[in-house]
Amino acid sequence: MTIRSTMLIDKNFRVSEVDPRMYGSFIEHLGRAVYGGIYEPGHPTADANGFRQDALEAIRALQVPIIRYPGGNFVSGYNWEDGVGPLSERRRTLELAWWTTETNAVGTNEFAQWAKLAGSEVMMAVNLGTRGVDAARNLVEYCNHPSGSYYSDLRISHGYEEPHRFKTWCLGNEMDGPWQIGAKTAVEYGRLANETAKAMRWVDPTIELVACGSSSSGMATFANWEATILDLTYDQVDFLSLHTYYNNNAGDTANFLATSMNLDRFIHSVASICDYVQAKKRSNKKIMLSLDEWNVWNTIGTSRNHERWQIAPPEFEDVYTHADALAVGCYLITMLKHADRVKMACLAQLINTIAPIMTETGGGLWLQTTYYPFLHASHYGRGTVLLANVESPRYDAKDFTDVPYLESVAVFNEEHGEVTIFAVNRHLEEAMTLDMDVRSFGALSLIEHIVLESEDLMLANTKEDPRRVVPHNHGSAQEDGGRVSATLSKASWNVIRLRVVKV
Ligand code: AHR
Repeated sequence: MTIRSTMLIDKNFRVSEVDPRMYGSFIEHLGRAVYGGIYEPGHPTADANGFRQDALEAIRALQVPIIRYPGGNFVSGYNWEDGVGPLSERRRTLELAWWTTETNAVGTNEFAQWAKLAGSEVMMAVNLGTRGVDAARNLVEYCNHPSGSYYSDLRISHGYEEPHRFKTWCLGNEMDGPWQIGAKTAVEYGRLANETAKAMRWVDPTIELVACGSSSSGMATFANWEATILDLTYDQVDFLSLHTYYNNNAGDTANFLATSMNLDRFIHSVASICDYVQAKKRSNKKIMLSLDEWNVWNTIGTSRNHERWQIAPPEFEDVYTHADALAVGCYLITMLKHADRVKMACLAQLINTIAPIMTETGGGLWLQTTYYPFLHASHYGRGTVLLANVESPRYDAKDFTDVPYLESVAVFNEEHGEVTIFAVNRHLEEAMTLDMDVRSFGALSLIEHIVLESEDLMLANTKEDPRRVVPHNHGSAQEDGGRVSATLSKASWNVIRLRVVKV
C-alpha cells in the first residue's frame, strides 16, 4: 500500500530569504570536540599548527558559514586570557562545567585561525557566569580593535596583526540553568547582559549581539524568562537564543519523528514573545531568533560520567541511527519554514561531541547518518523559502496529534535557477506518492532525487562500518509538464532538485 500527498509550489508565494547562517554549527571545549577533533598535533594529517586536515576537509564539505565557540556551559567559567599568548606560558585550569582539566592549548586566536581554514565565521560567546562587563569589553577590544590600545596591541604581540573582526557575539550561555556556573535570575541576567552589551558595542559598534533565551522550552521559567530579559535588553540586542535537543530513548520512533512539531511550536512561541515586547515598547525593531543549539541528543543526562580532571575525555559520543537522521531532516525543514524569523541556527555540535563527524584519536574519521541531511540542506537549501500548500494524511502519536506523514519545504534559488524540495516520509511502514504542482515555474527539469533510506530504523554508521546508511541519488522523481511526481520510500529523507529551464 502507498499513501498519497500533494504539494502546490508557487514561485510567487514566498516566506523569506534563507540567511546562510541557518547552517551554522557549534564547537565547545567539551569531550573530544577540540582536542582530538579539530586539533591533534602529531596526528598523521595534522598541519604545523596541529589542525587535523581530515577533519577540516569533512567540515569544509558541509559549508558551515558560522561556528559558535567556545561554549556552551564551558564559557561560563572561562577566562579568555588563559587561552592567548605563548603556548608554553598557558596554564592548566580546572574546568568546572564538565569536570576536566583544560590545557588551554587552543584558545581564541587558534580557533579564529582554524575557522578561517574551515571557511566559517566565528560566533563568539562571552562569559557572563563568573565574569561580566569588563572581561567582555576587553575581549572585544582584543579581537576586533585594530591597534593602539592595550588589548589590541596585546593581540598583535601574540602574532595576530589583523583583528579577527568577529561580528556575532553571544551574551553568555543558558544563564537560567542551575547547572550553569554563575546561573542567574532573569532580572540579574537581563541587567548584566544589557550593561555588557552596551560596553561591547561602545568598543565595536558593528557587532551583533545574541541574548540568552531559556535553556529549553521545558524550563519552568520559559516564556517569563524571555519576556523579562528582553524587556531589560531590547535596545541592545539583535537576536534571542533558543536551545533544544530531542531523543529517541523511549523507542517510539513515530512519536520521535513528530518532535519537529514541538520545535515548530517553540519557534512560534519565542517569536510571539519577541513581538509582545516589541509592542509593549512601541519599537520598530524586530528581534530575530538564533537557534544556536539544536540536535538529537540520546546520551543527554550522562554528563560528567568519567573520572574527574582528565584532559578531553570522550563525552556524549552519540552514534546516530537512521531514525535520528530523519529527525534531523524534520528539524531542518521546520527551521526553513520559519526562515523569516530564524536567521541563525547551530547544529550542536560539529565534531565528536553529539556530532555528525567522528574522529578516532590517532586514527581515521567517519561520518554519521545525520551528516547527510545537514549536508544536503546546507548545499541546496539556500535561496528563498516558498510557502507551499501541502496535503498529507496524518497520524496521532503519543505526544502529538494530527502529525502529517509528509514533512516538506521548497526552496527556490533564483541565482542558480534551481528549486529544491526537501521531504521526509514519516510513515514507518508505507511508501508515499508525492505529486507536486510546479506550473508557476514554467519548464523544469529534474537534476536528481537524493534519498536516504534504510530497512532498519536503528541502523547506524560506525567506525568499523561507516557506509551502512548513506544517500543515493536514484530516487524515482519524474517531471512531466508542470508536475513532478515521486514515490518516497517509507521512513526516508528526500531531496528533489529541479532546474528552471524556462519561466
Ligand atoms: O551542547 C552541549 C551542552 O548543551 C552545552 O554546553 C549547553 O549549552 C547545553 O546544555
